Amino acid sequence: MNVLFLGAPGSGKGTQSKKIETEFNIPQISTGDLLRAETASGSDMGEELKKIMSSGKFVSDEVVLELVSKKITSDECKNGFILDGFPRNLSQASSLDTLLTNLNVSLEYVFLIDVPTDLIIKRCVGRVTCNKCGKIENEYFSDIKEGDTCEDAGVYVKRADDNEETVTNRLKVYGEQTEPIINFYEEKGILHRIIGGEDGPQRLTDEIISIIKS
Ligand code: AP5
Ligand code: MG
Repeated sequence: MNVLFLGAPGSGKGTQSKKIETEFNIPQISTGDLLRAETASGSDMGEELKKIMSSGKFVSDEVVLELVSKKITSDECKNGFILDGFPRNLSQASSLDTLLTNLNVSLEYVFLIDVPTDLIIKRCVGRVTCNKCGKIENEYFSDIKEGDTCEDAGVYVKRADDNEETVTNRLKVYGEQTEPIINFYEEKGILHRIIGGEDGPQRLTDEIISIIKS
C-alpha cells in the first residue's frame, strides 16, 4: 500500500503519517525529517540546507528526489510507504510518477489534510518533537513543553523553522508551489480531502483508516 499526505505546513501530515505507519506497519518517508537529519549531521550540505529551510523556501528538486528514491527502492519499503511532504511542486509530482512507473508500483491514496489557515501558526509555533522517537506534540494543546522528557527518554525540542515569520513564508510557498498538485492528483481520481479543525487528530485518523479499509 502506497500513501501520500498533502497539506499546508502544520496541517498534521506528520501526525497522521505516524498513526498510519503504526496501524498498517509501513514506513513514513518525511522529506522534512530526512533533510533535518542532514542538517544535524553538520556536513557542508547540511549547513546549506539549514539556510534554505530556515527561510521557509524549498530545497532543490534534485536533493529531495535523491533522498526519496533511495528510500523507496530500499528493502524497508517493499510492502509500501507513506510519503509525507513529497512531492511539493508539479515537477516533483511528475518525477515521482516516473519513478513509480519504473518500479511498477502505484500510488493508491492521496490524503489532502485541509485545515483553516488561522489554526496553522499556533500549531507550528507550539509544536514540540521528541528528538529520539519523533513523537509530535503541541504546547498549546497538551501539558508537554520544550525541554520535557518523552516516554523513551528523548527530549522535546522545537524546530528552527517554527517561528511566526518563517511559518508565514512557508504558507506562501505552499500556496504558490504545492497547491497546484492537488488538481494533479484529483484528476487521477485518488485524492481524498480530509477536513481538519479544532477537534484533535483522532477523528481524522479514523476517517483515513476507514477509507483505506473500505
Ligand atoms: P516539513 O518538515 O515537511 O514541513 P511542512 O510541510 O511545513 O510541514 P510540517 O512538518 O510543519 O507540518 P505537518 O503537516 O507535518 O504537521 P504536524 O503533524 O507536525 O518540511 C520542512 C522544510 O523542508 C520545508 O519548508 C522545505 O524547506 C524542506 N522540504 C521538505 N520537503 C521538501 C520537498 N519535497 N521539496 C523541497 N523542500 C522540501 O502537526 C503540527 C502541529 O499541530 C503539532 O504540534 C501537532 O501536535 C498539531 N496537530 C496535528 N494535527 C492536529 C489536529 N488534528 N488537531 C490539533 N492539533 C494538531
Ligand atoms: Mg511534518
